Amino acid sequence: MLVFQSREELSQIEQKLLQAATTARMDAYAPYSNFKVGAALLLDNGELVTGNNQENASYPAGLCAERVAVFQAGSRFPGSVIQAIAVCVGPPKGTGDSPAAPCGNCRQALIEYEQRQGSPISLLMQMENAAVYKCSSIADILPMAFNSSFLGDS
Ligand code: THU
Repeated sequence: MLVFQSREELSQIEQKLLQAATTARMDAYAPYSNFKVGAALLLDNGELVTGNNQENASYPAGLCAERVAVFQAGSRFPGSVIQAIAVCVGPPKGTGDSPAAPCGNCRQALIEYEQRQGSPISLLMQMENAAVYKCSSIADILPMAFNSSFLGDS
C-alpha cells in the first residue's frame, strides 16, 4: 500500500475520481450512523460511476457506498472493466487521519468483479483532507477470497 500526503501527488484522473467520491458523499443517506461515505468508480469506457451509503430504519437493509457504486456499474455498464475505485469519508463522524477501508462484505463484492474481469481494481481511500492510501488491487485487502471455484460446479 502506498500513502500520499495530498491529492496533488496523484494523477489527474485519480484526483478527479477522489473528487467524485467526495461529492457523492454529500448525498449519502445516513441518518442513523451519521457516517457518510462516498465512492466513485472509473471504468475503461471513461465513465465515472458514483455511490454513497443508503441506510434504512431496518438497519441491515441499508447498503454501503462501495456496493451501491459497484452494483450500479455492473447494472448500467455490463462488460466494462473497472479500473479503480475511490472511497471518501469525513466529518462529522469521520475522525483522525486514517481513511475507512471497505468493510468485509464490500471487499467480497468488489473482488468478484476483479476476478471476473481478470484485471486489478486499484483502490484509493481518503479521510477528507488527509493522506490518500492506495492499494493496487482488491486482492491486497482480501487474501484467500471465497469465489465460485469453491462451489464445485463451475
Ligand atoms: N459504510 C460504507 O458505506 N462503507 C464502508 O466502507 C464502511 C461503512 C457505511 C455503512 C453504514 O451506512 C455506515 O457506513 C456506518 O457503518
